[in-house]
Parts: sequence; structure tokens; C-alpha cells
Amino acid sequence: MPKKETFYITTPIYYPSDNLHIGHAYTTVAADTMARFKKQEGYDTFFLTGTDEHGQKIERKAQAKGVTPQAYVDEIVRGIKELWKLMDVEYDDFIRTSDERHVKAVQKIFRKLYEQGDIYKGSYEGWYCTPCESFFTEMQLKDGCCPDCGRPVEKTNEEAYFFKLGKYQQWMIDYIEEHPDFIQPVSRKNEMVNNFLKPGLQDLCVSRTSIKWGVPVDFDEKHTVYVWLDALTNYITALGYASADDSLYQKYWPADIHLIGKEIIRFHTIIWPIILHALNLPLPKQVFGHGWLVLDGMKMSKSLGNVVDPVVLCGRYGSDAIRYFLMREMPFGSDGQFSYEALLTRINADLANDLGNLVSRTVAMVEKYFDGVVPAHGEWNDADRLLIALAEGTPSRVQKHMDELQFSVALQDIWQLIGECNRYIDQNMPWVLAKTEEGKERLKTVMYVLCECIRIVAILISPTMPRTPARIFEQLGVSDPALCDFETASRFGMLPAGGRVQKGEALFPRIDIKKELADIVPAPAAQPAPEPKPAPKADKAPDDGLISIDDFARVRLRAARVTAAEKVEGADKLLKLTLSLGPGEPERTVVSGIAKFYSPEEMVGKQVVVVANLRPAKLRGIRSEGMILCASDAHDKTLKLVTVEPGVEDGAEIR
Ligand code: MSP
Repeated sequence: MPKKETFYITTPIYYPSDNLHIGHAYTTVAADTMARFKKQEGYDTFFLTGTDEHGQKIERKAQAKGVTPQAYVDEIVRGIKELWKLMDVEYDDFIRTSDERHVKAVQKIFRKLYEQGDIYKGSYEGWYCTPCESFFTEMQLKDGCCPDCGRPVEKTNEEAYFFKLGKYQQWMIDYIEEHPDFIQPVSRKNEMVNNFLKPGLQDLCVSRTSIKWGVPVDFDEKHTVYVWLDALTNYITALGYASADDSLYQKYWPADIHLIGKEIIRFHTIIWPIILHALNLPLPKQVFGHGWLVLDGMKMSKSLGNVVDPVVLCGRYGSDAIRYFLMREMPFGSDGQFSYEALLTRINADLANDLGNLVSRTVAMVEKYFDGVVPAHGEWNDADRLLIALAEGTPSRVQKHMDELQFSVALQDIWQLIGECNRYIDQNMPWVLAKTEEGKERLKTVMYVLCECIRIVAILISPTMPRTPARIFEQLGVSDPALCDFETASRFGMLPAGGRVQKGEALFPRIDIKKELADIVPAPAAQPAPEPKPAPKADKAPDDGLISIDDFARVRLRAARVTAAEKVEGADKLLKLTLSLGPGEPERTVVSGIAKFYSPEEMVGKQVVVVANLRPAKLRGIRSEGMILCASDAHDKTLKLVTVEPGVEDGAEIR
């Protein structure tokens, strides 16, 4: 049998200092989705995650609790592992930096670097940021505080070992330039080269004498290895590097992807590669720095009190829905806004309506018209051929976007197929076909095409939503594992006729968004919140007047039908419109400045284009939930509604 190609993906190892929030889960869910996808493609995959347990921060937290650091982290690590289980994160190994296997290997690495002259002894005088576990010079501080997180720093003056980073500065610049895929997205590469490498690299302090909770330097035990040097090496110590059995290291290193958040790119694309190079080891093929999940423009973080608990979310909506939201809502690489409203809207629109309805309608029709047996198809017509071509082409589009780590685009590819299936139902009108003998013959083909498309969809969503496919296959009556293989997703027609469908529960029950929001969104605190610590601001777009495709993708435009309209009292320009975005979604109110150009009577029944994810605002005391689009005529100063071609369903996404 030919040897399988390997694929090694890692997440950062997490600080077990607090409960993890949904922002942390973002990195891990993305890595898990990627690992599952590669496994599905047939790769021999290894997915590593773990915990970064040493350092001053943990030492102090344990002290404050009156327990040993080991007891403190053991408890939190248990919770982290439970969270990953709850979110269906299927790692191959979980490395803890307090593991004996890791400690021994770090000691060997430190000793080797010392013996070959890359580490030397000196003394350190400067500043230390404990939350970031980072050293800074006086010059690097911002207003006397940590330039990364803005918190106070501590003066440090002690004997220390140093790593000769500076010696490798030019080599690192050349390497990055010669390997354009090494740092992704590209914007992060420019930041590293221009802001950190070109100004010059100082030698790095790699030991502390004032901290005991860490890996002791084995030839000079009063020193503890600097936490970042200790932590970064996890990617190879987990594979058995520098141990008696390094077979996993031989098999999987170099990593295909280190997936990390953007704030720790510097450690992963400068310090880590230089350590590897000094050890004469190959570099990871790619370091991908994703954006942050933000709340009100600020990075979600415990110290700001703006965290969202993934355990609560999974408990209320199920882990598949949360995984889908994380991967669909945020263009990977950019920051993404978390809101309960966006989450609930996605669950209702994409999961309950688009996917859930497609499956339940199809299964119900096979039951009703063919006694629950998947019929054999007849000749394809043009509409069938179009949908089949889309279905057959979807797996390769998904593959391309997954390889670029564009999770949200890959999901859009799948949802395009789902959308077309729903449109195919509306165009073919099975309920009309079922009325005549001739129509019923044609209906066999329609139902077969739908069942087969759903099988393909179920295969393609499985890396993101590991639980839902089994429920779909059960309803479709598919039990042959070969029919669930990625390899068969692009081979339309594999589903045998004659299988028995079985109606099941709704895949994603619809949520009453208003009620749910009232229930879950935390009420503003009665007491004024403690002064928030300055937090790093989220990415700002360059001020050149242009937006990126990712910026555009954040705007949700949807078709909507005006079901009621009235004038707003005391405002001659405003109309209050009630919009329907399709069955199952609560109607919404939009206040629009079009009263001079359209009467309320004219508006009712019109289909409009609405910006569906605009933050609600109060206009004349009315809560407006979106904005409808109009074209303005500069000559006669009129406004004309933007609308869509007839036949577009209410609620349809406009891209
Ligand atoms: N221990 C270091 C990593 C060492 S790797 C050798 C660390 N740990 S962390 O627990 O603070 O963060 C772990 C990961 O969670 C990072 O990739 C970080 O970017 C990610 N996130 C933490 N908050 C986040 C958001 N609000 N949004 C998205 N990801 C975020 O850093």
C-alpha cells in the first residue's frame, strides 16, 4: 500500500490561568476542522494542542489560591480537556509543559544551544510583563507600560542566560523573503519584517532566577528556562524530539501549519524559527496568524470582563451550531465581531432554514409521494444538469478554500449548493408534479437529485459540524460508510435508489430570537465596572478608502418583503416598515427615510434589499433593525428602491 501523505497541525498551547472563553475556542475549532478535513481527504493527520503551564503568572495565581502550581494547573487542565470534548475537538495528543517528557527534552535543547555557543551567561536589566511573559527594554515601553497589552511592567535585574537572536537576524529576513507562504496572511509578514526584524534583533533573555515554577536549567539549577522558549518547543517535544523514541518526530515534522492568534506571531515567526535553525532543524511550513473575536471593538478577554463562555453556548445551541458560527461568521485572518444576535440569526437562517428545511422537506416529500423509498431517476433535464454540475464541483471548491484556510468561504460554497437545492424545489414544484402520472415520473428524478445533493452536503459539512451528518444520513437511510466518504462526494449518482428515508427531529429547531436575546444577553452591571485595563485595539483598515473582500463579506445583504408600512408621526421623511425575511424568522422593523418618494400603500408587498446585520438603532423612539438600500438620482434628487429579480425568496442572501 502506498505511504499516506502526512499532515501535522498545531494550536498554541493555552495558559491554564482562567477558564477559556469562546475566543480561545476559535483557534482550536479551526485547527480541529482543518485536521478533520485533511483526514477526510485521506492524509495521515496529527493534531496537537495542550497547555502552557509554567511562568510567573501561574506561580502567582497558585500562590494567591494557597495551592501548589501543579495542583492549580491540574484542576484547570481538566476543565480545558472537558471543553474540547464538549466541542468535539479530537486532538491526537495533548502536551502539558509540566509533562516529564517535555521537561527532559527542553533541558536537552537548552544544554545543546549552550554547548554550541548560542546561549551565553550575562545579566538582565530591564522590564518584564507578567501577563505576556515578555521582556522589554526601556525604549520599547509605551507610556511606561507593556507595548503589547498596555498593563504595568516590573523592573527586573538578575543574572540570566541569553540566546544569540541577533546573530540570525539577516538569515531570518532572507528566509521570510524566500518563503512567501511561511507567514500568512501576507500583511502579517510585512509587519514582522519591517517592525521587528529590520530595526534589529537583540539577544533574548532565556532564563530567570526569580521564578521557580518552570523547567530548571539542568547544569545551573538556580535558573529556570524562560517560558516562551519552554513553550515553543512543545511542537517538537510532543513528537518525541530529543527522546529515546522520536519516531513521531521523524514522521510528522516539519509541521504543515502552526495556527495561532495574531498577537503571538512574533514569537512564532522570529524566535521559534531561529531556535529551530540553531538546532539545525527544518522550519514549520506555515504559520497562520488569525484575527480576534472581538466584542464592541475590543479583544475578548477576562481582564476586560467581556468574555463569552463556550460551555454555556454549546449547552444552549449544541456544539455543531457554535462550531458552524465560528467558522462561518469570521473571515479567517481578520477580526470578527461576536454578537448573540449574529449567532442566533445564523442558526435560524443558515441551519434551521436553509439546511434544516432542505432535509426535512425532501424527506417529507419522499415519504409522501414515494412511500419513503428513494426513487430511481429518469433522464436529466437542463435544470438537473445545472444542479448536478454545481454539486459535483463543490468538493473541489471547498478543497481549494480549505487549503487557503478560508473556512468561511468553504462554507459559503456548501451553502450555495444548499441554496440552489432549495430553489430547485421551488422551481420544480413537486406538489404540482405529484398531481399527474407524467408529473410523478418527473418527480422521481427531482427527488433523487435532492437526496443525492443532501448526501454530498452531509459529507462536506462534517469537518465543521461533526455531529449533524450522522443525523442526516439516518434520515436519508444511508448506512453504507462508503457513501459517506469524501472521495464519493464529487461522484454524483452513488446513492442507490430503493433506500428508505426516515423522518427525524428538526436538525436545528428555530429560535425565537427576541425571546432568546432577552434571556441570554447579560444585563448591564448595576455597579460601575472596574476601570478596564487598556486592551489592544482590533485591526484598523488602512485609510485608503478601499475595503477588502473580507470587509465586504461582513455586510449581510438579504432580500426582504415589506409586509406593513406606516408614516412615522412627526417625521415627514420617515416610514416605519415591517419586513419579512422568510418563514421561521421573526419579522423586523426598519425605519427608512423614503417617505417623500414612496407612500406606505406603495411599499407593502415590495421586495427590498436590506443590510441585515446592521447594529440596531433607535430613530424617533422606534428600534430600527437594518437599512434598506436605495439608489439616489443626483439630477432630480429622488430615491429609488433597490430590488431583486422576481423569484428570489424572501430572506435570500445577496452576494
Ligand atoms: N500560551 C500562549 C501560547 C504559547 S504557544 C507556544 C498563549 N496562550 S493563550 O491561552 O493566551 O492563547 C491561546 C490562543 O487563543 C492564542 O492563539 C490566542 O490568539 C487565542 N485567543 C485568545 N483570545 C482570543 C480572541 N478573543 N479571539 C481569537 N483568538 C484568541 O498565547
